[in-house]
Amino acid sequence: MTKKKFLLIMAAFLIVFTAALCVCCKASKRIPLKDGEWTGKAEGRNGPIELVLSVKNGKISGARIVSESETDFAKPAEETVIAQAVKLNRVDGLDSVSGATITSKATMEALANAMLKAQGKADNTSSAKTAEDVSCDIAVIGAGGAGLSAATEAAGKGAKVIVLEKMGIAGGNTNAATGGLNASETSVQKSLGIADTNEQYYQDTMKGGYNLNDPELVRNMVDTSAETVDWLISLGADLGDVGKMAGSTNRRTHRPKGGSAIGIHLVPVLQTAAEKASAEIRFNSKVTDIARNGSRFAVSVSSGAGDYTVNAKAVIIATGGFGANSDMVVQYKPDLAGFGTTNHKGATGDAFEWVKKFNATLVQMEQIQTHPTVVPGNGVMITEAVRGNGAVMVNREGKRFNNEMATRDIMSAAILRQTGKTSFLLFDQGIRESLKAIEGYARQGLLTQADTIAGLAEKLGIPAAALEETIISYNKIQASGNDTEFGRAGSDMPRAISTAPYYAVEVGPAVHHTMGGIKINTDAEVIDTSGKVISGLFAAGEVTGGVHGGNRLGGNAVADITIYGKIAADSALSYINTLAQE
Ligand code: FUM
Repeated sequence: MTKKKFLLIMAAFLIVFTAALCVCCKASKRIPLKDGEWTGKAEGRNGPIELVLSVKNGKISGARIVSESETDFAKPAEETVIAQAVKLNRVDGLDSVSGATITSKATMEALANAMLKAQGKADNTSSAKTAEDVSCDIAVIGAGGAGLSAATEAAGKGAKVIVLEKMGIAGGNTNAATGGLNASETSVQKSLGIADTNEQYYQDTMKGGYNLNDPELVRNMVDTSAETVDWLISLGADLGDVGKMAGSTNRRTHRPKGGSAIGIHLVPVLQTAAEKASAEIRFNSKVTDIARNGSRFAVSVSSGAGDYTVNAKAVIIATGGFGANSDMVVQYKPDLAGFGTTNHKGATGDAFEWVKKFNATLVQMEQIQTHPTVVPGNGVMITEAVRGNGAVMVNREGKRFNNEMATRDIMSAAILRQTGKTSFLLFDQGIRESLKAIEGYARQGLLTQADTIAGLAEKLGIPAAALEETIISYNKIQASGNDTEFGRAGSDMPRAISTAPYYAVEVGPAVHHTMGGIKINTDAEVIDTSGKVISGLFAAGEVTGGVHGGNRLGGNAVADITIYGKIAADSALSYINTLAQE
């Protein structure tokens, strides 16, 4: 054997030996599993998912769902996740089923909680391991889009941040946000050649809100929107597609490329960024009160581990609105009795009780928005972006009945005047291909499909001749860019409805956004009834009132929560610096 050959064989041996050593190290790090049946629980889209994990000969041998209340569409995702866990003999790094992300993640979390028990550790359903009192710089209440934005910013700038989330997962209503994030004069708009101005965004928002909006809050949101888009992109968000929503003069609704839903993309980006910045997120941790304790706050928390207090120098309230609290909705807007909701079940408005003792001002609580295109019975919102990309709405007589891109209040009222108080959102394959969010609706089995307009009419039980005439006439209007009947703008009719197959979804209005709430100033400081700042108390997102006035424009919620979440963090940081100098 030559010297060269000998050296090559030795090198190969060394590589194989090192690799084997690494595998052994990894294997030896794995905590052994105890045989038996272990229960795990986590919060899904519609409530808790409970399962039993079986371990045999130290390996995952199966898991079965014990109880859950997910939609028929989402249920199979539970089995898909379990099958991966059994096949791979692990519960981390599993793939979500697209279109059923929340259910998939909850199933993974329930498996992980069961796995902890199989490893002889405590259940993790409360991320507070004990009920010991704890201190921090900033307590953020709520891990939705506003809370996660605040936590990311504050922890990223060095504050000790504890986020208290009453649900088992992050995201709140942001998980269901689809259309996108409005922003003007952004780097993305510029790169796509879209001309827009902060002034036009301001005017559109004020007009959309019937000038009931707080002008300073709106001006501040608009002027900081472009930098917030850059900040989110720097955290890893994909905001590369820009669409148009009702009430916006220009294309300014930023969303992932291809037109995917914004919320299920943004929530993991923000959660990862917050955790990377060392913010501690405690799930299943329900805040029951906030009180002053000298120059600090005492936040009372009830968790699976017991009750305890978080002592914080500043508090950011980011608990969301009250759209899932039907009693409260009806108390402020009796006409909404009997309406469904698009909101997640944690949107119950708990914070309004806590802030009473601080004499916090509540504004425009009666301003509650309905979204016009929600699937009756299951609360699934069909994004306005479908209309923005070209869909029309027809009634049971097969006729269009309104400018489909009218604001949500007008469109909701128009639908309620139609036979049966619902209508059909109708589009074609071209529109489907223009917006990835539609694939989620297809996977949920929400689309009625046919190869011809007449075939679609038959499936919907509406007159075929009338529907054919409506679509022929609409395509002529679209080509001319002049909707003489309902005044839909040429720029709001980007595509004809002419490529088979054709699709329809039955939709009607449901409670969507509670636009009133805690009064804040442009620094997100909470204002009391005498107009003074309540020092150390900040609020952001849907729990606040004033940004949206009498009607929120689509895309302005995600703008509001990220922009004011970040501002609240910066203001809280400045405030705690003043305390340090005391
Ligand atoms: O229709 C939608 O996608 C809703 C967006 C929003 O409420 O901002």
